Amino acid sequence: MELLQMTRPSSFSLISTKKIIQMNNVYTSYDSKNYALKGISISIDRGTNYAIVGQSGSGKSTLLKLMNGMMIPSKGTIKIDYQTPNMKNKQFKLMMHKIGYIPQSLGLIKNITVLENILIGALPRLGKIQSLLKMFPEEEVIEAKKILKQVGLEGKENRKAYMLSGGEKRRVAIARAFMQKPTILLADEIVSELDHITAREIMALIASAQKTMNLTAIMVHHDIQLALEYANRVAVIKDGEKILEIGVEGDKIVDFQTGNLTTEEIMEMYSNESKK
Ligand SMILES: Nc1ncnc2c1ncn2[C@@H]1O[C@H](COP(=O)(O)OP(=O)(O)OP(=O)(O)O)[C@@H](O)[C@H]1O
Ligand SMILES: [Mg+2]
Repeated sequence: MELLQMTRPSSFSLISTKKIIQMNNVYTSYDSKNYALKGISISIDRGTNYAIVGQSGSGKSTLLKLMNGMMIPSKGTIKIDYQTPNMKNKQFKLMMHKIGYIPQSLGLIKNITVLENILIGALPRLGKIQSLLKMFPEEEVIEAKKILKQVGLEGKENRKAYMLSGGEKRRVAIARAFMQKPTILLADEIVSELDHITAREIMALIASAQKTMNLTAIMVHHDIQLALEYANRVAVIKDGEKILEIGVEGDKIVDFQTGNLTTEEIMEMYSNESKK
C-alpha cells in the first residue's frame, strides 16, 4: 500500500497533463482590417473528441490552423500540449509532427498510390536524405500496410489516389495522419458531402482509433447532429466568435459555455442562428 502511494503520480501532475489545447481570448486575422476569429476561449481535454460547427466563413478552418501552429494569434494566448506555438522552437516543431492535420482539401497526392500517400505521414521521422529520396525503411512500409487494413483499404494499396471514391480518399487521408503516430488529430470537414452511412463508418473508425491510440480528435463538421453524436463537446462558431459550447449528457443537450441554457433554448438559438 505504501509503495503504491509512493509510485502514484501526484494529483497535480494528473491535472496538469489533462488539457491538450488551451486557448484564451484569442483573436487572429489574415489582414490588418478584420479579425477572422474574435475572443475565442477553448479548453480541450486529452483523449476527448471535440467538434467545431458553424456556417461557411465563420472561422472553423482558421481555428484548426491555430491549433496546429500554422497561424498564430494576434491577441490572446494558445497552448498546444502546454507549449506556445513557435516555429523557431525545436521542441514545438517536434511536437507538431505529432499533430495529424487533415485539411479541408485532404491534401492527397493524386498521381501516387494509396500506400505512397500513407507513407508520407512517416516523413517527419526519417533522416533528411531518406526523406528527400522518399526511401522508406521496411518497418515503415509494414506499418503503413497495417494502417491501410485498419482504415479498410485492404487490396487498394497500389491504386492511384485520383482513382478513389470520396469515402476512400478520406480513409487515405486518415491513414496518412495515423502514420504520424499522432497525439492530436485535426480533421477539417472530413465527412462532409459523404452519405449518411459512409460518414458514420468514418466517424466510427476515428472513434475506435481514439481508444487504441489515446488520441484527441478535433473535427470540423457541417452537421450539428453528427457532431453531437460523436463529440464530447461541440463549439458553435458564428462570425469568428464562439456563441455556444454544448454536449450531450443522457437525453439532454447541455450548455457548457454558460451553464444557463436549457436543451430547448440551445436548439432554438442554434436554429435561429442557422437561419440568418
Ligand atoms: N487565406 C486567407 N486570406 C484571407 N482571408 C481568409 C483566408 N482564409 C480564410 N479567410 C477569411 O477568414 C474567414 C474565416 O474563414 P474560414 O476558412 O476559417 O471559414 P470556415 O468556417 O472554415 O468556412 P467553410 O465552411 O466555407 O470552410 C472568412 O471570412 C474567410 O474569407
Ligand atoms: Mg473551412
